[in-house]
Amino acid sequence: MSNTTQRKPIRKAVFPVAGLGTRFLPATKVVPKELLPIVDRPLIQYAIDEAREAGIEQMIFVTGRGKTALVENFDIAYELESTMEARGKDLSVLDATRFIPGNLMTVRQQVPLGLGHAIWCARAIVGDEPFAILLPDELMVGHNADTGGCMKQMVEAYDEVGGNLISVLEVPREEVSSYGVIDPGATHGVMTVVNGLVEKPPMALAPSNKIISGRYILQPEVMRTLETQEKGAGGEIQLTDAMARMIGTQPFHAVTFNGRRFDCGSKTGFVEATLALALEREDMGAEIRAIAERLLAR
Ligand code: G1P
Repeated sequence: MSNTTQRKPIRKAVFPVAGLGTRFLPATKVVPKELLPIVDRPLIQYAIDEAREAGIEQMIFVTGRGKTALVENFDIAYELESTMEARGKDLSVLDATRFIPGNLMTVRQQVPLGLGHAIWCARAIVGDEPFAILLPDELMVGHNADTGGCMKQMVEAYDEVGGNLISVLEVPREEVSSYGVIDPGATHGVMTVVNGLVEKPPMALAPSNKIISGRYILQPEVMRTLETQEKGAGGEIQLTDAMARMIGTQPFHAVTFNGRRFDCGSKTGFVEATLALALEREDMGAEIRAIAERLLAR
């Protein structure tokens, strides 16, 4: 790719976090789903850390009514911190919640019209540069603490090919109709050319079993495309449909993440992620293993 505008660095990430989290009620009646903890860190923190690891510093939350605690979570909590300090407690546990002033921005999605609409709500802040999108429900972690995250791998791929990139993974065919699905072209290493995209197709019509797994690097033109995007699957304005219209006008690649994915949009996925990450923790892994074995032996 020779076009330099396609190689502008990825500095901004959009996090669509306006959802109502109805699948987790009553837990999410007042607590945003993205603040539910996986062990001792809120779900959103994993996505923020993944973006930071990829060199992205400017985070844009697309929030909605009742989700203000998500923004508060990344503010300085003076009372808490001075009390902890007075008691000689370690404040470094809060480090991950700190932002360089101005680097956390929020916009509101007033009506839940779909993922495409949520992303479009961030257009003024995104401006005229390529940007990342991370869906916090999809928890993507390396095989172990030493392997890099999904967005880092995508930024590396972007540096190579430019254009638009989405993360994909293979699921059993029976599951494809819950996701965006790619029509795959040639594959080179972890990268596959995307020839087509379809949101939540019936199983029989799905072009493959490679689904979009919630990480994107997109060119700003997608905002213009979203402007005229009609409603699609589920009566919602779909990001997938807008991306599909860009294929052919700009390079489009899928990246297969070399790591693990937990679907934290589902309760079982959430429990799985909690267990998997707890088992890996140095401070509690052995104890959790013993507990799990005891429970399973019953
Ligand atoms: C969204 C996207 C879909 C993607 C999925 C990943 O769907 O529209 O293409 O595969 O996230 O989780 P949703 O889960 O919002 O229905």
